[in-house]
Amino acid sequence: MNPILYIKNANQVVTVSGASVKPKKGKEMAELGLIEHGGIVIGGDRILFAGPDEEAQAFVNDLTEEPIVIDATGKLVTPGLIDAHTHLVFAGSREKELEMRLQGATYIEILEAGGGILYSTTQTRQASEEQLFEESKKRLDRFLQYGVTTLEAKSGYGLTISDELKQLRAARKLNESHAIDIVSTFMGAHAVPLEYKSDPEAYIKIVIEQMLPAVAEQKLAVFCDVFCEHGVFTVDQSERILEAGKKLGLIPKIHADEIVTFGGAELAAKVGAISADHLLKASDEGIARMAEAGVIAVLLPGTAFFLMEEPADARKMIEAGVPVALATDRNPGSCPTESLPLIMNFACLNMKMTPAEVLTASTINAAHAIGLAKEIGSIEAGKKADLVIYDAPNYLFIQYNFGVNLVDTVIKNGKVVVGGNDRD
Ligand code: NIG
Ligand code: FE
Repeated sequence: MNPILYIKNANQVVTVSGASVKPKKGKEMAELGLIEHGGIVIGGDRILFAGPDEEAQAFVNDLTEEPIVIDATGKLVTPGLIDAHTHLVFAGSREKELEMRLQGATYIEILEAGGGILYSTTQTRQASEEQLFEESKKRLDRFLQYGVTTLEAKSGYGLTISDELKQLRAARKLNESHAIDIVSTFMGAHAVPLEYKSDPEAYIKIVIEQMLPAVAEQKLAVFCDVFCEHGVFTVDQSERILEAGKKLGLIPKIHADEIVTFGGAELAAKVGAISADHLLKASDEGIARMAEAGVIAVLLPGTAFFLMEEPADARKMIEAGVPVALATDRNPGSCPTESLPLIMNFACLNMKMTPAEVLTASTINAAHAIGLAKEIGSIEAGKKADLVIYDAPNYLFIQYNFGVNLVDTVIKNGKVVVGGNDRD
């Protein structure tokens, strides 16, 4: 059993409370449930109390056990950050493509020439499960330093049944052994592998008839994702794959309208996807349908930045009533960073989301996008004790002092996992 922790006298606590059942949309996204001079009491892996510090002190006084006190005077506390879209598990890296893109090659041209996702697929196929585990663990360690306490991880660099299962097993082992919690997504439809280039339907048949049943049977994923994009998987192919996944209990997600306007947002609404992700080129109609169907937009402004593209129109989506979440899209090609706080800076500065909306999008709305909002994403009694303490006086400061790591202490499941060495 973890000792009782008392986070004392934080300058500001961002609770993002009151939205565990439905994600925040429209103006609600700016409501953070702020507590000035707040105190939080943690017992086991749960939050026992969060409120004004005098009340927290009184709560602690009534306990029989002496708590460990973490003095947060002058500091900001938020829920643990949640990364709702990553491609965590892969082998190798693709720094050479950066140079190619700077010389004018496009992302899709590189993919069509057998590079891009297909290059990472070759590397991942050659790697053992242990190697994938070790390479991905390094990335997870970095995520934790940046305050990420839960993340979603997709397969999609194996593209054979055994290599897809190998990626998902590596993710499961990481979930079991690392402080960060991982929720897995099967993404066998990330690209058509080279050996099926002339017959993509034959590959889709394998995804539907072999990969999906094996993933479901071995309970290796909660979600099923598809790269629905011109030159990758059509809307019709994506729909068939997602519907097949649904029949096996896998919840749909879509890489939608990233490079061209393609109908991905509309498809997300049609199949009842929990989220549609990217959406740089989503149509007005698609956005309206997402709002109606309650599909969460997972926006990835780090990918737009790294691919030197205009980011998604977050303001239009928020105004249309689409709940917005943020994520890194950590992958070897289009967004090689573990810094979710930097992505939050991009959301603010490049997509004009307000600092309050940005925090909602990377906590409770991100939790909804991965189906975990009852457990995580806000600071409320009864929820998991996943918290970040920052060397910053308030939530505006973490957008203002951008591009540096302001994380001071990370608490995951009620345990200090980053920092805290100098505390008593
Ligand atoms: O979300 N867009 C498709 N897939 C990934 C990129 C994967 C890669 O380039 O390796 C993405 O950006
Ligand atoms: Fe992605």
